[in-house]
Amino acid sequence: MNFNFSRRDFPTDFIFGAATAAYQIEGSKFGNCGSSHWDTWSKTPGNVHKADDGSIACDHYNKFDLDLDLIKSGGFDSYRFSTSWARVMPDGTNINPDGLDFYDRLVDGIVERGLKPNLTLYHWELPSVMSDIGGWSNREVPERFADFTNIIIERIGDRVDYVSTINEPWCVAWLSYFIGGQAPGIKDIRAAMRAMHHIMLAHGKALEVLRSHDQENLGIVLNLGHGEAASNNDEDILATKTFDAIHTRWFMDSLFKGYYPTDMISKVGNHMPENFENDMSLISAPIDWLGINYYTRGLIKAAPEEPWPHFKGVDGPLPKTQMGWEIYPEGLELLLKRIYNDYTNDLPIMITENGMANEDVVDNNECNDFDRVRYFEDHLQIVIRCIAYGVPIKGFFGWSLLDNYEWAYGYEKRFGLVHVDYETQKRTPKASFKAFQKAISGNQ
Ligand code: FCB
Repeated sequence: MNFNFSRRDFPTDFIFGAATAAYQIEGSKFGNCGSSHWDTWSKTPGNVHKADDGSIACDHYNKFDLDLDLIKSGGFDSYRFSTSWARVMPDGTNINPDGLDFYDRLVDGIVERGLKPNLTLYHWELPSVMSDIGGWSNREVPERFADFTNIIIERIGDRVDYVSTINEPWCVAWLSYFIGGQAPGIKDIRAAMRAMHHIMLAHGKALEVLRSHDQENLGIVLNLGHGEAASNNDEDILATKTFDAIHTRWFMDSLFKGYYPTDMISKVGNHMPENFENDMSLISAPIDWLGINYYTRGLIKAAPEEPWPHFKGVDGPLPKTQMGWEIYPEGLELLLKRIYNDYTNDLPIMITENGMANEDVVDNNECNDFDRVRYFEDHLQIVIRCIAYGVPIKGFFGWSLLDNYEWAYGYEKRFGLVHVDYETQKRTPKASFKAFQKAISGNQ
């Protein structure tokens, strides 16, 4: 099954890539990696499907050459990967030489194959020692993150083409400290508001470090929520506005306008760290590109019976993926055009994650994930449309190269372009991988 598009439908310098994250694939028991909050949270009953953890994952720590060969053979131009803070600084202070050596070898391997490294500094592996002091609710953690940034960039900065500071600050702060759906699983408005600020501060501080090294192409990766009201009631429309403040405007206003949305600060500003205003110029320092991760929409209903933010997400009518997420490519178009018009204008944008989970099985060495082929087709057609409209979209990364550890969902949800048999670690390229190969290789 093929895509209807090919590389020729995109600008000549458009970057096609595949994305992963350290904890989801590497195997945290290899190479003297330190404990992260995912190692402990996953081992606490009720948090993660089957209490799965990332100790072995896809054994990418040992098999990275194989995985880089796959990316190359798929015809991709770039690999988006992340560096684990817990691997590099297990005790939060001293460097684990094996950890740093690993990223050195990895980046060499990417470059040797003619691929562009796209580095994410933080994709959620907070060292347990940082969690011990309150994690992102403590202002000291952004300071320490700046040290980590410095160590990574001194070692591999000379070979990476693009750097993003934080992956999905909404997940790091709101999902992890308010909803409690990810490590460290806290549900507390005060901790959450602090984390919401400190994660943006961590971005600002890391950016400052990166600039001091003259590192180029610096950005951040956001999962902006595209929210739609579940009905035309005024209450649901207002609830959707609040959803938008938490998911989108918190990040876009602070990065591009230097303030947080007043409809949040007026409600829960009393939980913000003192003098947070003084950090806003650091947080809004110019970036060179913006990464956007898009999977689905949020369908929002008012919940006046509950405390602020008075809303809940409801089940929608559209076809869903294995995650139960509605398939809604139109949301990507609405989101991109809005972001472009209201905030980013000429700033380069990359779709740093897009993809779907599916109950994939291998039969006779084949994995026919045709629903995923259709999913990518529909979303990439939107990208083509948005480029024609004028949005400067410079790249698209499929999530994910491999089936992997899907956080609280463990290994049950499969997002890969390549199937992984976790018993044998055998990799089997799926139909979606082959569709990319056909559409984009050969004419780079
Ligand atoms: C994103 C994460 C990524 C993966 C996908 C499905 O929120 O960045 O690690 O879990 O969702």
